[in-house]
Amino acid sequence: MNRFLNGWFRKKQQDGMTTRTAASESSRDGNDLSPTDIPRHVAIIMDGNGRWAKARGLPRIAGHHNGMKTVKRITQAADRLGVRYLTLYAFSTENWKRPKAEVEFLMKLPQEFLSLELDELMRNNVRVRMMGVRELLPDFTLAAVEEAVRKTENNTGLVLNFALNYGSRMEMVESARQLARRAASGEIDPNDISEADFSAGLLSCELPDPDLLIRTSGELRLSNFMLWQLAYSEFWFTDVYWPEFSEAHFHEAIREYQRRARRYGGL
Ligand code: FPP
Repeated sequence: MNRFLNGWFRKKQQDGMTTRTAASESSRDGNDLSPTDIPRHVAIIMDGNGRWAKARGLPRIAGHHNGMKTVKRITQAADRLGVRYLTLYAFSTENWKRPKAEVEFLMKLPQEFLSLELDELMRNNVRVRMMGVRELLPDFTLAAVEEAVRKTENNTGLVLNFALNYGSRMEMVESARQLARRAASGEIDPNDISEADFSAGLLSCELPDPDLLIRTSGELRLSNFMLWQLAYSEFWFTDVYWPEFSEAHFHEAIREYQRRARRYGGL
């Protein structure tokens, strides 16, 4: 983190500034949630970092940096509730279009996060995974993620899946290409291609489909995120910006999820 940000964060800590709301304190433990209906896989579009920073007269990267702290908070919250898979949209294949300095900052976050948190993730039996295209990612980003993936590969608790350089249309085209090649070589009959075959060619092939999708910041779109996998997921949107998203907000999303009746097209 640069010196300006360091100073700002220290000052805010001294001021005792906290983004937690009174509501979040009262329902922090989520005791009212049904333990038998916790979504197995929660996917999150962590949006609103830039706007959070702008609203405070800060550079956008301050929003991303605070967003990283929310990653820790929500990973712990998901783990406590017994969520099995948590997928976080950390960088899309379209995010390369952002200013160079912002992209560089975003690329450093996995390394910073993992250098701070890997020991605790290990202690909590969390398994780190990455879902995305390795090409284009800087070596230091990839090295940090791969080290975490390797060190945690035998952990059996929450799977923390970072969508990094991830794009849904791109992965679907790639899956279609694989199937087309196998069909062209005579290995498979195009008429036999199933949904499961298509899913098997996606970057998410080792994960179940998300049960719940959360998007923060008031935007109501999918932004090229898990388009195939979210076919029957429940969606929950909030106006809260990601850096302010608390454990209580997470519980609110799960509470709403538990009120929904999932019918998968049936009655
Ligand atoms: C979208 O919000 C968010 C991103 C492009 C990056 C999200 C990344 C993090 C929260 C940190 C990830 C941390 C780790 C450990 C990988 P935006 O910046 O587009 O917000 P805006 O719509 O308000 O501009």
